[in-house]
Amino acid sequence: MNQAAEINSGFDRTAAEAFAGRIMQVLDSGAVANMMAVGHRTGLFDVMAELPPATSEQIAARAALAERYVREWLAAMVTGGIVIYDTGRRTYALPPEHAACLTRKGALGNLAVFGQHVAVMGAVQDRVLECFETGGGTRYDEYPCFHQIMAEDSGQTVTAQLFETILPLLPEVMRRLESGIDVLDAGCARGSALLAMAARYPRSRFVGYDLCADAIDFAAEAARQQGLGNLRFERRDLTGYDERRRFDFITSFDAVHDQKDPEALLHGLFGALRSGGIYLMQDIGGSARLENNLDFPMAALLYAISCTHCTPVSIGQGGEGLGTMWGWETAETMLRKAGFTNVERHVLPHDPMNVWFVCRKD
Ligand SMILES: C[S@@+](CC[C@H](N)C(=O)[O-])C[C@H]1O[C@@H](n2cnc3c(N)ncnc32)[C@H](O)[C@@H]1O
Repeated sequence: MNQAAEINSGFDRTAAEAFAGRIMQVLDSGAVANMMAVGHRTGLFDVMAELPPATSEQIAARAALAERYVREWLAAMVTGGIVIYDTGRRTYALPPEHAACLTRKGALGNLAVFGQHVAVMGAVQDRVLECFETGGGTRYDEYPCFHQIMAEDSGQTVTAQLFETILPLLPEVMRRLESGIDVLDAGCARGSALLAMAARYPRSRFVGYDLCADAIDFAAEAARQQGLGNLRFERRDLTGYDERRRFDFITSFDAVHDQKDPEALLHGLFGALRSGGIYLMQDIGGSARLENNLDFPMAALLYAISCTHCTPVSIGQGGEGLGTMWGWETAETMLRKAGFTNVERHVLPHDPMNVWFVCRKD
């Protein structure tokens, strides 16, 4: 468009150029997120956190990786503002303030874990494009390393906080777990929360169900290795789930919205609780209304995960694909329809992206 045409059409060149600048930052940040996943998976962030400023050769040697690739990754990290480069000495440093949220021992949790979600979106893009055309869905096993990434993700938001922050929402359950009750985790995947509870409460009996055999096999092997005789994992499709009054405490961690039929599952879980039982449900805490999510933490990332994972895996099971941002309002309505009259909603400081429902059965 020439300048006269722009003026006539009301085109705001300054706004357009500013927006193009923002898009360039988006592209840069997307690439940095992907490279953060590499830094996490290779262990490079952990290695650098333990080293003084070091050359690419020293870092590669310590990480037992190929120097040429490490040097290129370091360049992306330096230009991405994550690693500090000393041009005179040709050394690279990960400041402790950056290591705090990028390493396995970081004091602020490990945000590099979430970079893996960005990387997986790229890996499955061709399949997702097919879904856009056909309206069909995907299977969990089409997502590389999904259960490993999910275990690292919920290992931070759930398992690491279980005894200090999460179970204290339910003091009566903590007491009953000590004396011995029956517990189910629905959609347990690799089962790290169950493994932790089963070790802590030897008098209680724990069961984990999940659709995916690879995740269940992993969990069962971990239970065997830890000698946990009070914990059982079973590969089970929870579609149409209808056990009756079998459990005193049921949990689900981020495992309802991507089911085939979340509403039916919640009915099933209500029926599976004994009277006086409690269902603890963690799920994504966004609103069902897009306009309420504009300032929600990492909302664009969550919608993108929804578009590339949660929606298609639900559709792939024959479901409607509620999506990651199905909304706490939808969840609460479904919980009440399932039969829970006593429903509390919590947002925990360590986990601002999720909502925690405590649902009591009379
Ligand atoms: C987002 S992952 C969460 C896994 C785990 N709770 C955690 O926090 O790490 C959702 C889980 O729900 C399971 N799932 C989805 N549909 C299911 C179904 N129909 N029956 C049983 N499990 C299902 C998936 O296999 C997956 O492990």
